[in-house]
Amino acid sequence: VPVSRIRNFSIIAHIDHGKSTLADRLLQTTGTVSDRQMKEQFLDNMELERERGITIKLQAARMNYQGKDGEQYVLNLIDTPGHVDFSYEVSRSLVACEGALLVVDASQGVEAQTLANVYLALEHDLEIIPVLNKIDLPGAEPERVISEIEEIIGLDCSGAILASAKEGIGIDEILESIVHLVPPPQDTIDQPLRALIFDSYYDPYRGVIVYFRVMDGSVRTGEKVRLMVSKKEYEIDELGVLSPTQIQVEQLHAGEVGYIAAAIKTVEDARVGDTITLAAEPAEKPLPGYKEAKPMVFCGLFPTDADQYEDLREALNRLKLNDSALNYEPETSSAMGFGFRCGFLGLLHMEIVQERLEREYDLDLIITAPSVVYRVTNMDGEVLEIDNPSLLPPPQQREKIEEPYVRIEMITPETYVGTLMELCQTRRGEFKDMRYLTQGRTTLVYELPLAEVVTDFFDQLKSRSRGYASMEYHLIGYQENTLVRLDVLINGDPVDSLAMIVHRDKAYSVGRALVEKLRELIPRHQFKIPLQASIGSRVIASEHIPALRKDVLAKCYGGDISRKKKLLQKQAKGKKRMKSLGTVDVPQEAFMAVLRLE
Ligand code: GTP
Repeated sequence: VPVSRIRNFSIIAHIDHGKSTLADRLLQTTGTVSDRQMKEQFLDNMELERERGITIKLQAARMNYQGKDGEQYVLNLIDTPGHVDFSYEVSRSLVACEGALLVVDASQGVEAQTLANVYLALEHDLEIIPVLNKIDLPGAEPERVISEIEEIIGLDCSGAILASAKEGIGIDEILESIVHLVPPPQDTIDQPLRALIFDSYYDPYRGVIVYFRVMDGSVRTGEKVRLMVSKKEYEIDELGVLSPTQIQVEQLHAGEVGYIAAAIKTVEDARVGDTITLAAEPAEKPLPGYKEAKPMVFCGLFPTDADQYEDLREALNRLKLNDSALNYEPETSSAMGFGFRCGFLGLLHMEIVQERLEREYDLDLIITAPSVVYRVTNMDGEVLEIDNPSLLPPPQQREKIEEPYVRIEMITPETYVGTLMELCQTRRGEFKDMRYLTQGRTTLVYELPLAEVVTDFFDQLKSRSRGYASMEYHLIGYQENTLVRLDVLINGDPVDSLAMIVHRDKAYSVGRALVEKLRELIPRHQFKIPLQASIGSRVIASEHIPALRKDVLAKCYGGDISRKKKLLQKQAKGKKRMKSLGTVDVPQEAFMAVLRLE
């Protein structure tokens, strides 16, 4: 196809506003996927994604569409992940497009994450087509939502499309708008090859499959390509398009979207944002905007059973093949033994990896509380990056500690403004801005330490607003604060994996709440267990877990067989994950106690 008849677009939408349903509709209407083939949510094909109902990995689909003008068009839909942790991947997939559908649920309104992605799209000069979805719902208020979009984003909504992805309303209009409003790619076929990688995944048989958009020039199967950032060279075994299943082709040129397989061993060698060029006639410069994925959140992973250490290493190795943002190195803890310190893009990324390790690799893990990366300057001027609180140098060696700060933007119904401001205040937040939108909705902007966000901020936001508030955040830099290390001693022994870094002003209340929580979470033993929180050698809070009285169970459940059975069943079901620290068995929840202090 000539470049003039290619349209590359993506869909920007908040979770649940109907992106997948709309994508399915477009594939069906263009005959790309037959009704029979159509599995529900074709694009979300990872099991975990479907279960969580969110899109993690991007993919693409090529559709042939005959326009009302009688011309044949190729429409490439490039999917974007819908979560803050993956905003870099979102930006790369947007760069691969000339336009975007902005899908907003007509019964809801614009949400924080949608806004963030619209701004990204505008930054890259994408043509944005507003689509009001779910107009079939009785509660749909397209006029209100349109004025919201116009007011907040300043986007002209005179051409906004009223649609129902579910009922198939407005789909033809959407396809026509893509053809007429989204500009075709630039015709740069004569230039040296430059193709932008916007996604990749590991296939055990063919090696890494790389998804890309050709920005300049063209590429053929069998050619030798070079990745300009990783500097590796490969011969293309297979070149193709995503329709949405992989279909091999001989050649792809500027403007087209496709995939290659080239016996690439790990996704690290073909990272999102890297540029593919020809080894024989390389482009002068890679495409702009490449960024290394930088882990922001760290935690320790320890097998409950020390024998599983090698299995854990193997599992991490394999996950890494498919996840270049996953970072890990061996960690030895005096309390926990051998494990790994792992870095993640954010909390969701962390949860996904943990779940996969347990589910797909059948590992029993103890996971320690998440930590951010602190920047510590020592007295001798040396600067250290500390992602493990137990490694924080003692106060007399430190000149200063800085911690990462984020700017967080929330959109919430007015009624919850008070409680959300209170939340931000208790999290050391600094108020920045508040604006009233339409009809009782408000945006609220704060700057606060990332450390205060990674400890269940999102859950708090959701529960305080009954699920109605949404948020988006990005890193703005580091700031110096008076931070101290809080140590926890169980039965007199310091537990390094429970150490945490807190602001001095909060140390006492956190220390107190923490030992109280631990007292609840750690089961009774045959002996009394003292619990202490300390800063340096100073104990700031102490508690103890009383010894178990043996006859308690016997007395209570004496004659009642059925009740005893029930109890035993319950115990078997909740086979508790425990780690033995010396003589004390500590359950998984205790290591996360800090997340539940409120
Ligand atoms: P993520 O994949 O989590 O980002 O969600 P999504 O934006 O892809 O939303 P999805 O397509 O999964 O739709 C969310 C829910 O809204 C599903 O239950 C859909 O059936 C429903 N839905 C989607 N479009 C419409 C519509 O036009 N009308 C109505 N009534 N429901 C819709």
